[in-house]
Amino acid sequence: MTQDELKQAVARAAIDYVVDGAIVGVGTGSTANFFIDELAKIKHRIKGAVASSEGTAVRLAAHGIAVFDLNDVDAMPVYIDGADEITASGAMIKGGGAALTREKIVASVATKFICIADGSKLVDVLGAFALPVEVIPMARAVVARKLAALGGTPRLRVKDNQPVLTDNGNVIIDVVGLHIADPVALERDINMIAGVVTVGLFAERGADVALLGTADGVRTLTF
Ligand code: 5RP
Repeated sequence: MTQDELKQAVARAAIDYVVDGAIVGVGTGSTANFFIDELAKIKHRIKGAVASSEGTAVRLAAHGIAVFDLNDVDAMPVYIDGADEITASGAMIKGGGAALTREKIVASVATKFICIADGSKLVDVLGAFALPVEVIPMARAVVARKLAALGGTPRLRVKDNQPVLTDNGNVIIDVVGLHIADPVALERDINMIAGVVTVGLFAERGADVALLGTADGVRTLTF
């Protein structure tokens, strides 16, 4: 199976976690896009969705799924999103698509975080994937120095020779070379740095369920 077929398989499996009549929190990225396409097939069963990025909102709306402002939503049963890495205890690195802050906010309102990913995202220790950190632009240099002091190599994310800007107008610093033995502690430490908006570690509040696509089918991990 191709990686896209594995992503499609977990996107289909995630539909079982969607609660009839409810609002669904929807993540960002290629796996989340496959999920949105599956969600469109059962859109008559849900009230609507909250999007974790402008891109996701556009795709949901294009499918005719009602997109709610998070400020108008008190609770939602599930948030469904991909990950760049996930451990066997449900801690994740996210933010490869630069949507980490809105993803963390929307996930915080959901009762359950359902992670959907191809099986290659399952790792023993987080850190082979560069850790994204969303940073206020004026704090780029000072935050980079502090991230370097934690043992990583900070790299400003650029595209076409320009800094990548998030939906919130901030920059992303990717931290290379970390071996994250204690993701909860590192998440707290990085979030304490002045100028950091969000670190792409989802460990303090990790996944509740992971649906991982493998050649043998969808593997379900519950945490
Ligand atoms: C976006 C994310 C994505 O969930 C993560 O990058 C995985 O993306 P994909 O499903 O394309 O592999 O965190 O900010």
